[in-house]
Amino acid sequence: MVDVNKLVRENVLKLTPYSCARDEFKGKTGIFMDANENPFGNLNRYPDPYQKELKEAISKIKGTPEEKIFLGNGSDEIIDLCFRVFCNPGIDKALTFTPTYGMYEVSASVNDIKFIKVPLNESFQIDLEKVKPLLSEKNLKLIFICSPNNPTGNCMHHSDIEYIIANFNGIVIIDEAYIDFSDKPSFIKMVDRYHNLILMQTFSKAFGLASVRVGMAFSNPAIIQYFNKLKPPYNISTINQKAVLLKLNKVEEYKNQVIKIKKERERLSANLKKMKITEKVYPSDGNFLLIKVKNATHIYNTLVDKCIIVRNRSSVIDNCLRITVGKRSENDKLVNTLKTIAI
Ligand SMILES: Cc1ncc(COP(=O)(O)O)c(C=O)c1O
Repeated sequence: MVDVNKLVRENVLKLTPYSCARDEFKGKTGIFMDANENPFGNLNRYPDPYQKELKEAISKIKGTPEEKIFLGNGSDEIIDLCFRVFCNPGIDKALTFTPTYGMYEVSASVNDIKFIKVPLNESFQIDLEKVKPLLSEKNLKLIFICSPNNPTGNCMHHSDIEYIIANFNGIVIIDEAYIDFSDKPSFIKMVDRYHNLILMQTFSKAFGLASVRVGMAFSNPAIIQYFNKLKPPYNISTINQKAVLLKLNKVEEYKNQVIKIKKERERLSANLKKMKITEKVYPSDGNFLLIKVKNATHIYNTLVDKCIIVRNRSSVIDNCLRITVGKRSENDKLVNTLKTIAI
């Protein structure tokens, strides 16, 4: 079993975290004269720093105890916290499998951490033989695995992910931002088995709350406590906590939306496959499709001229566009517009 405490940066171990008014008095009733708040209004009080009510609700739907849950200002805050808890700037390293979500590399640069990029194979899967020697790389602290992966859309093989977690003496972060759109099982229960695992999910995709900025990390309580130690005291606003709670009271609505999006994904995929401009539509476990075309930049620019915005991913995968699945009418508009584009 990996001893997580041994991986944590010295300054984080020694750090005395900021103690806010709500850390010192946790009660909900009384005359509050301890936080220099304005006594008037509905939004005059600081939020609950540890989002207790929200975590209780998340705990119920995810089947994970509250002490194993951390909430960040989007998954992006959690990615940054992983670097700040575990990686010494200028010394430590992180690794991922490319092409993948760009924030891992950006966060590594912000924190002055060397970033190792191991290319996925032609099926967009992890090449385990390439990874094995790297698992003992000096000063390698973090491995990011995005599954389902953005922008390729596929899940990584479970056995490959588990091999890495079980054989790496550092922290593995699995980013499951798109897992609700997949029929494959989540790794969430593996958090109980592996202490070096941080599993991330988000309210930005299937729950339709991208503007609210709430990301989830599930991990062992020691790692959750290090995140709590470093985070700004009030990282999730009261309004945002309430927005998520409201959504969690309407689980059926979110589940129906996911069903609709998955159906639309298959319909859009079938339509795109029939088109002359399409060389390949990759299978997807996300709410988007990656397609290979003859001239991605030309198609991208023509679509923009018609006010349809997709993502040109040609810089990371040759001649590929990433298309988010929209509403039925939006998908039809895209397909009809693509039909008019000459190549
Ligand atoms: C794989 C992946 N992880 C995380 C995020 C960002 O999540 P959040 O909105 O919770 O910061 C994205 C956004 O596109 C993503 O593609």
